Amino acid sequence: MQRIVSPSMLSADFGNLGHEIEILDRSAAGMLHLDIMDGVFVPNISFGFPVMNAIRRIATKPLDVHLMIVEPERYVGRFAEAGADIITVHYEAVADLRECLRSIHRAGARAGVSIKPGTDAGVLREYLDEIDLVLVMSVEPGFGGQGYIPSSTEKIRAVRRMVDESGRNILVEVDGGVTAENAAMIYDAGADIVVAGNAVFASDDPAAMVEKILNAR
Ligand code: DX5
Ligand code: ZN
Repeated sequence: MQRIVSPSMLSADFGNLGHEIEILDRSAAGMLHLDIMDGVFVPNISFGFPVMNAIRRIATKPLDVHLMIVEPERYVGRFAEAGADIITVHYEAVADLRECLRSIHRAGARAGVSIKPGTDAGVLREYLDEIDLVLVMSVEPGFGGQGYIPSSTEKIRAVRRMVDESGRNILVEVDGGVTAENAAMIYDAGADIVVAGNAVFASDDPAAMVEKILNAR
């Protein structure tokens, strides 16, 4: 299975965003993870379209956009226009998930669904035919730099099994508290993509940390 690292820009230095992106563009990162928070779905506000447009202008890697917002269906088109390659919405935030996934596809992006730590993975089973990526939250969404919730590992295994049983080519992504120390365990449990914010940006050498997570044993 191919491993991918998606650094979360939430932990980047926004005063030096261009420089931070250039470092990651030259790194082994497979994509850049953009956390969009509205202060309603989660108790924090991150950034919106102007910042995302700036990132899109500079970055050459695909943009992996994680919407932690209520009624994400209202903004799918705008995030696709702003250059999102993957648009991931929260299961807990959407009224009509199937229709939302279809609108992401119509907008030309790949469709992801994220589940919070308290949400059972099985709720996604009936939607797998429209899903390109399942994002397992391994912390409560809202903030970078939190500790990995240990029970997430079992959930990653359950999602992996469910995805394999579907026979569809669905990526499994894990977000929250990923470090060079636990990355091997997370990949082994069935993750294709790990998101890493604090681990990458608190490091003296973010590109080397991406590599370390990618090659963790
Ligand atoms: C949390 C975000 C994560 C976060 C990951 O709500 O979805 O993407 O930035 O950051 P770390 O790797 O620091 O847990
Ligand atoms: Zn995220």
